Amino acid sequence: MKRILTVCLGNICRSPMAEGILRQKTTERQLHLEIDSAGTGNYHIGESPDHRAVETMRQHQIDIGNLAARQFVREDYDRFDLILAMDVQNHADILALSRNKEDENKVKLVLSYLPETDAPESVPDPYFGQRDGFAYVYDLLDRAIEAMLETHFPAS
Ligand code: 4NP
Repeated sequence: MKRILTVCLGNICRSPMAEGILRQKTTERQLHLEIDSAGTGNYHIGESPDHRAVETMRQHQIDIGNLAARQFVREDYDRFDLILAMDVQNHADILALSRNKEDENKVKLVLSYLPETDAPESVPDPYFGQRDGFAYVYDLLDRAIEAMLETHFPAS
């Protein structure tokens, strides 16, 4: 497992935040992974991440300001080993483009890695919400991505 894609709807809030967190954690762990993010929708193609996502990440010393949104495409199944969906709708939309069982097996809900049994299934969409929605998204993603790395790349 070397190539990981994070996916939300717009690719301007949750999945670029997940990409930034994953990049920082892989650097800290000296893992050499290929990382990208995408959106299932086409509304924001080419746009920078939402300024609230950029600001929240900046508070954690992570710069995502230079990312640009793109749409998830079927060929991403060939380019990536693990596809992390932010919510159940993204999960369904990604699976709708799968071609076979091998593709399907690559898709996981990012919060499925959280250890607690009462963890939410989906990262809530912060786009239409209040500012502190982004802090909550950061906290969920930070913990879920840490757990994902411990699962697939346990520290020896
Ligand atoms: P994201 O948030 O999926 O976390 O990037 C959204 C961004 C834009 C829209 C919806 C969600 N939108 O409807 O434009």
